[in-house]
Amino acid sequence: MGYREIYDAWKADPEAFWMEAAEAIDWDRKPTKALTEKGDNLYEWFADAECNTCWNAVDRHVEGGRADQAAIIYDSPITGRKETITYAELKDRVASLAGALRAKGVDKGDRVIIYMPMVPQALEAMLACGRIGAIHSVVFGGFAANELAVRIDDAQPKAIIAASCGLEPGRVVKYKPLLDGAIDIAKHKPEFTLILQREEEVADLIPGRDFDWVEAVEAAEPADCVPVEGNHPSYILYTSGTTGQPKGVIRHTAGQLVALNWTMKNIYNVDPGEVFWAASDVGWVVGHSYIAYAPLIHGNTTIVFEGKPVGTPDAGTFWRVISEHDVKSFFTAPTAFRAVKREDPKGDFVKKYDLSGLRVVYLAGERADPDTIVWAQDQLGVPVIDHWWQTETGWAIAANPVGIELLPVKLGSPSVPMPGYDVQVLDEGGNPMPAGELGAIAVKLPLPPGTLPTLWNAPERFQKSYLNTFPGYYETGDAGMIDEDGYLYIMARTDDVINVAGHRLSTGGMEEVLASHPDVAECAVIGVSDQLKGQLPVGFLCLNAGCNRPHEEVVAEVVKLVREKIGPVAAFKLAVVVDRLPKTRSGKILRGTMVSIADGSDWKMPATIDDPAILDEITEALQTIGYAK
Ligand code: COA
Ligand code: AMP
Repeated sequence: MGYREIYDAWKADPEAFWMEAAEAIDWDRKPTKALTEKGDNLYEWFADAECNTCWNAVDRHVEGGRADQAAIIYDSPITGRKETITYAELKDRVASLAGALRAKGVDKGDRVIIYMPMVPQALEAMLACGRIGAIHSVVFGGFAANELAVRIDDAQPKAIIAASCGLEPGRVVKYKPLLDGAIDIAKHKPEFTLILQREEEVADLIPGRDFDWVEAVEAAEPADCVPVEGNHPSYILYTSGTTGQPKGVIRHTAGQLVALNWTMKNIYNVDPGEVFWAASDVGWVVGHSYIAYAPLIHGNTTIVFEGKPVGTPDAGTFWRVISEHDVKSFFTAPTAFRAVKREDPKGDFVKKYDLSGLRVVYLAGERADPDTIVWAQDQLGVPVIDHWWQTETGWAIAANPVGIELLPVKLGSPSVPMPGYDVQVLDEGGNPMPAGELGAIAVKLPLPPGTLPTLWNAPERFQKSYLNTFPGYYETGDAGMIDEDGYLYIMARTDDVINVAGHRLSTGGMEEVLASHPDVAECAVIGVSDQLKGQLPVGFLCLNAGCNRPHEEVVAEVVKLVREKIGPVAAFKLAVVVDRLPKTRSGKILRGTMVSIADGSDWKMPATIDDPAILDEITEALQTIGYAK
């Protein structure tokens, strides 16, 4: 069957479609039905089933003949270390770690925060939580103590699992002081922490609160898999919204198992036993779904890569890993390819490696610009597939389903909706737009299995952020169009979220930090176009009357403040001081117009602007930092 037939079959009978996909999962109690309607536009999948994530990702493969197959290949160009962990070894390691958590009182439903770099133990920690029904929440290592504290207060974890450090090129990121700082700031205090000591940095442990990973595991009795309800949360992953308070996206156990397993063959075109590599980080949704869960659930080998696309040691590092480990499908962010292309435009490094095993490359996380796609296709000689999804959905809303059939690639489009997603482009009144016309992209409810059922601790915010604008639909927050062939085009966010190097960040969150500076009276942050990172944040500061300090000093302080409060990942390095911000007569800051001016794109004077002369000052200020040319 081709894509169209499969999509139509799903649409005709979604219940049958997902019940059939569920056959591929091991159940402790089989689901009697796929979808449960909860009222208020809320839905759950396989709610009456019982299953275990870790069993499906690890144990069943050991029992089913994959005991000696590599489950995880750890390749760390930053330390020079490599390690292969078979499914049998992974089972032992995860069972012992789960036993250690259990011995310290972690039980089904308890939250565990994981703050780890790209080492196999990060995946083991996630799987160990799933084994005993604990709910993990992984926090990206590039976030500062304050962001970690916000997540601790929201998730209220019983335990935190962390490494002593992460490694960035030329810099050891000491996690323990960040962790201690976060626990100090947070109102909620975890009962204990488990620390993986790395040789690059051995952290001081606080007796009675901090425990050494190795010692705890050695002392532990291995734990068995605990069956949980299909709608038991597997994890909470925080993502940026329009304010500094991140949204806790919940993922339910059974939906995740069924949906991710389905994607591995149908979208990523790998069979069990083959090597699949997503070069992302476990702190992001791509890392959850496609470094940890999907490849393991499907019986593939996954790669944990601790390095960067360039500089560890060179722009050939991706190609070395692909060739050395025989990667069949490779997934990365466009920004990573732009970084490689900038250093190796002619592909000299590509030619050094045998990439004959590689079949397809997948890009997501931000808009894939046609230049980057064409460059990658030319260099690698394989299809380069853009696909579109979000932390909220956990898997692709739109993709080219290569395992079903390779549809013609249209540059600039992540191709077509996947089964499960009825995608529509709507006008402000919620009416469908004709083909080729721009509007808000929405998905008809219910969303498919594996997507968010609600937000942790914030059911009202869930309704407000996603369900209220277009009744009966999930609002994606992206704007775009669908062409006459049914291909989607994702053009922009409709909210204050920006995308920096494939990382989703809140300009509102950054504005909250700038506004906390004692000399700042008013501020705005916008995302301007950047050739490497896609977008970069730029801050505009209006200083308090009477503040006569040199502007560079205040700018340097706010840059430092954002790094301290949000973290280096915000990549906030540019800010300018202006007298006033451009606003509408009702006082709304004209951020969109400022973005157009910064990018040098066409723009119209907003009819509602209060004082057009302010835009000249904005233009001049942007020119001092190299924009608005
Ligand atoms: N822990 C601590 N700090 C981190 C970090 C981590 N896990 N990840 C990034 N940082 C730091 C970086 O060191 C950098 O710090 P600096 O300001 O001192 O230089 C800062 O955060 C910004 O990082 P980033 O935006 O990633 O830029 P970079 O200069 O390190 O690398 C690219 C540029 C394009 C090579 C890089 O962004 C990249 O490969 N991105 C991949 C994107 C990706 O995988 N996204 C996941 C979604 S699919
Ligand atoms: P995140 O939740 O971090 O995965 O970010 C999701 C957002 O990134 C989406 O809502 C889009 O704005 C953007 N995004 C992700 N993938 C793509 C893509 N393939 N094309 C365009 N935008 C994308």
